[in-house]
Amino acid sequence: MDERVDHTKINGRVCFCLFVRWSCLIQFIFVCFLGGPVSSSLFLFVFQVVLSHPASSCAFFLTILTSILWFIRDSLKVSSFPHRHVLITGCDSGFGNLLARQLDGRGFRVIAACLTEEGASALSSLASPRLKTLQLDVTDSASIRRAVEAVRAEVGERGLWGLVNNAGRSIPIGPTEWMQLEDFRKVLDVNLIGVIEVTLAFLPLLKKARGRVVNVASILGRLALTGGGYCLSKYGVEAFSDSLRREMQHFGINVSIIEPGFFKTAVTRPDLIEADLRRLWTRLPQDVKDSYGASYINDCKRNVKAQDFSLGILCSPDISKVTWCMSHALTARFPRTRYGAGWDAKFLWIPLSYLPSFVSDFITNLLLPAPKNEKKKKE
Ligand SMILES: NC(=O)c1ccc[n+]([C@@H]2O[C@H](COP(=O)([O-])OP(=O)(O)OC[C@H]3O[C@@H](n4cnc5c(N)ncnc54)[C@H](OP(=O)(O)O)[C@@H]3O)[C@@H](O)[C@H]2O)c1
Repeated sequence: MDERVDHTKINGRVCFCLFVRWSCLIQFIFVCFLGGPVSSSLFLFVFQVVLSHPASSCAFFLTILTSILWFIRDSLKVSSFPHRHVLITGCDSGFGNLLARQLDGRGFRVIAACLTEEGASALSSLASPRLKTLQLDVTDSASIRRAVEAVRAEVGERGLWGLVNNAGRSIPIGPTEWMQLEDFRKVLDVNLIGVIEVTLAFLPLLKKARGRVVNVASILGRLALTGGGYCLSKYGVEAFSDSLRREMQHFGINVSIIEPGFFKTAVTRPDLIEADLRRLWTRLPQDVKDSYGASYINDCKRNVKAQDFSLGILCSPDISKVTWCMSHALTARFPRTRYGAGWDAKFLWIPLSYLPSFVSDFITNLLLPAPKNEKKKKE
């Protein structure tokens, strides 16, 4: 007969007995506080599940605990909004306009930069006297310098708490082959070079306040769905923000990236995109037009209509989903690095961007028309 003692079995039994004793004690407390047979049977059920699946139960409880802790951390806010200045670019319309009014309503000292004078006076008429407007073209260095002087005079020694790089444009957008270098420049100058120049110009004021930079990128900075400068510019904003975040954390400055899905604003207006596609098509040499087939432009237009249709059913016109993310990045004690805004961003485009290229290529090709003549040649 084998006389050897199996210590692992004994240790296991001891642990089990201790566990049962402790759980009896917890059950006793549970019944004392909640009372009744329902709580007792619920406890027994939970207890049996925990005993039969110890590893999964531990993982489950750890996940719950981590989520609760994350939620608490995420909802902590900074205080004294009335002493904090926030500069937002591109406030004539869309996200910037709504954010300016919302932050003004919450007591922030908002400096709303508009491209046009009309935009600035329309916004002033909707906001409190606390909100200041200024004219800023992010592609014009002299305009940026003037804005820095105006903001410096406004914020004084406090410095600038928030800079929201929101100004942007989408067109020209369309097939890459239809573009000229100038078309890329038009978009890159506003969406990327503008963001870089404005950020560099305001960094000294942001450092003073140990403030926040909020850069508006897009899901098109994760997944290039179309040609032209737009996706390039948003990929660039992602890269610029990532390096800035790592460098600026030493100075107490947080950098957040907003990645909205599709929302109904001027940058997604189908009539403007359609009219610009027509302009690009008409200036193409005949041999390029022939390679796409005469019906391609109409397919593109239909595609824009399909996009409009999908915008209607997929995306909420509620742009406050985006401004909520911007506000959180400015007011949270621990702002997030990236904010996906809109369910299409969270559940469709961003997950799609992680899939292998052949999957994302297949899905995006379903959304874009194929050149007719080349399709025939393949057959
Ligand atoms: N809507 C979406 O689905 C979506 C999705 C992802 C990302 N985004 C991004 O979100 C940001 C805001 O866009 P939005 O959707 O709110 O569209 P929007 O209403 O067109 O807002 C863009 C603003 O930028 C201004 N702007 C254009 N060029 C400028 C320049 N050179 N200098 C200063 N301001 C300039 C525009 O002024 P004018 O109105 O006078 O032209 C407009 O007020 C953009 O960066 C856009 O790329 C939008």
